[in-house]
Amino acid sequence: MPADPQQIAHPRAPQAARVTFVNGLQDQVALITGSSRGIGAAIAERFAAAGAHVVVHGRDAQAIEAVRARIEAAGGRASSVAADLTRFAEVEAMRHHIEAQVGPVDILVANAGGSGVRPGPIEDITEEDWRASIDANLTATFLSVKSLLPGMKERGSGRIITMSSAAARRPNGAAPAAYAAAKAGIELLTKDLAAQAGPFNVRVNCIAPETVLTERNQQQIPEAVQEELRAHHPIRRLGTPEDIAEAALFLASDASSWISGIVVDVAGGSVLV
Ligand SMILES: NC(=O)c1ccc[n+]([C@@H]2O[C@H](COP(=O)([O-])OP(=O)(O)OC[C@H]3O[C@@H](n4cnc5c(N)ncnc54)[C@H](OP(=O)(O)O)[C@@H]3O)[C@@H](O)[C@H]2O)c1
Repeated sequence: MPADPQQIAHPRAPQAARVTFVNGLQDQVALITGSSRGIGAAIAERFAAAGAHVVVHGRDAQAIEAVRARIEAAGGRASSVAADLTRFAEVEAMRHHIEAQVGPVDILVANAGGSGVRPGPIEDITEEDWRASIDANLTATFLSVKSLLPGMKERGSGRIITMSSAAARRPNGAAPAAYAAAKAGIELLTKDLAAQAGPFNVRVNCIAPETVLTERNQQQIPEAVQEELRAHHPIRRLGTPEDIAEAALFLASDASSWISGIVVDVAGGSVLV
């Protein structure tokens, strides 16, 4: 007799791993933008555990330093840099700083972004909020790639991972439209880049997470709403930053060496429903 879905215990979310495995990132320089907290911090910690020298980035110097110190305390290698990614001059200064301190970037995780705007009717979005969403997500990703891709092409090697969202995978009244449009733009940019950069041995892929319980979301999403959200996921839990970090590690490592131009839904199956 088939099992009763209500009785099935779903596997627990993966915890931050501390193992180095065969398809690791030994001696690779990995810049993870927006790693001063949340998903980016988990990716930085995971990549460092896999042997990379990670560059922790954000705008909040204290938060950046806390993540860097945590990585070093766990035995990993990390540097730090601050820059506003919506300004190309700052992005270029960041690249020069990294190249001088630790060498050229082998892996870019263009993770920085997010949305401070509430969902609602499109005609109610202010011009300022629209531009802020596009800037913080699509433009920040574009400027990061614009700065780092030429070096990767020149060296004939590189991996880029961009960050979309389940908000961009289908129309969804619960997501702010400007944010969703910016993330959909990132998906198309990823595919275009994969086609352009592939001949230079640069792979470009994208991750589209559903709701991830970062510290911020834990605080901001009431438990009752979390429960409701869980019910919309065939895998009956919300994501963890470590879920996203594992997918990023796969896309950054040689385990995915013939994969480029895809969007990986790390979403508990919720894109099916
Ligand atoms: N959490 C989710 O449920 C979820 C779901 C789908 C997609 N995503 C995407 O995943 C990524 C990470 O999300 P998260 O929840 O971990 O976000 P978060 O906790 O809010 O952290 C955002 C990070 O991006 C940095 N950042 C934002 N704008 C920046 C800018 N203009 N210049 C430089 N740094 C900037 C922040 O730096 P400072 O704080 O130091 O300023 C911070 O490190 C985002 O692209 C987000 O859209 C998240």
